[in-house]
Amino acid sequence: MHKVIYDTDPGVDDAMALVFQALHPQIELLGVTSVFGNSTIETTTRNALYLAQRFAPGVPVARGAAAPLRRAAPAPVDWIHGSDGLGNTGLRSADQSALDARSAHRFIIDTVRAHPHQVSLVAVGPLTNLALALGEDPEIASLVKQVVVMGGAFGTDGVNGNVSPAAEANILGDPDAADIVFGAPWSVAIVGLDVTERIVMTTDYLAKLRDDAGDVGRFVWDVSRFYEAFHLSSAGLGGIYVHDSSAVAYLLAPHLYVTRTGPVRVLTEGIAVGHTIQKLMTFPAPAPDWDGRPPCEVCVEADAAQILDLYARTL
Ligand code: BDR
Ligand code: CA
Repeated sequence: MHKVIYDTDPGVDDAMALVFQALHPQIELLGVTSVFGNSTIETTTRNALYLAQRFAPGVPVARGAAAPLRRAAPAPVDWIHGSDGLGNTGLRSADQSALDARSAHRFIIDTVRAHPHQVSLVAVGPLTNLALALGEDPEIASLVKQVVVMGGAFGTDGVNGNVSPAAEANILGDPDAADIVFGAPWSVAIVGLDVTERIVMTTDYLAKLRDDAGDVGRFVWDVSRFYEAFHLSSAGLGGIYVHDSSAVAYLLAPHLYVTRTGPVRVLTEGIAVGHTIQKLMTFPAPAPDWDGRPPCEVCVEADAAQILDLYARTL
């Protein structure tokens, strides 16, 4: 059983990854923590509350960072996720009184300390909450079981970014935080564009979920209409990239991915701000480390068919 804290900026694909976790029998959601990113913190928190109340009742939601560690908050990406962050499917009201009294990073610290070596952090937005948790209580790095991040791009298929030619959205959202998280002494796996843009839910796949997966299938269909239109207009795709759910699939089935091992740094200034770089280990001897930073596992290949099947079977 995976005990999970889901750190998220819902977000259409964030919502799709939430229902995946809520329904998978091997995942126990301990909490959902919101962060700015696809929209403002007000909107992502409202959406997180709505989604938890509808699909994971009883799971606590804690509000997280409104802005990156050292820069202003980016504007919401309304043209990708809709002005409500959930594909313009209508304003989501949620019972705000259900919000946990703690900040997201405090919630993470308390929950990790309550379940030492058992909690996996699945982080699919800017990494600000995780960096704040490390800053306040660095010891949690040795108490977390693993961190799975959706973010970054390592150029294995020629793609280095989706917001700029050098940067992926979640890392560009808070490059300072990402550099802190990738440099901390915990086990980190990074599921970036190298694999997520090779895993596509086609319109037919989504229609089958709509027809076969009951209420949750219809929700996934409805929430993905606007997002799919964005993929068609921006990439000519007849479907959607599977970003955030690919991090969940890694947690559940890491054997479906090929990874590269080595320390990762993030450029925090300049024209390539947000760019992720991995120093590769050489075989047979490991390469000297990079500024004393621990290795991360970076996904470079994925079994798309099996991952899509895992998602569909779960729903
Ligand atoms: C990431 O950015 C967000 O728009 C998505 O939710 C995903 O987490 C993809 O670059
Ligand atoms: Ca996200």
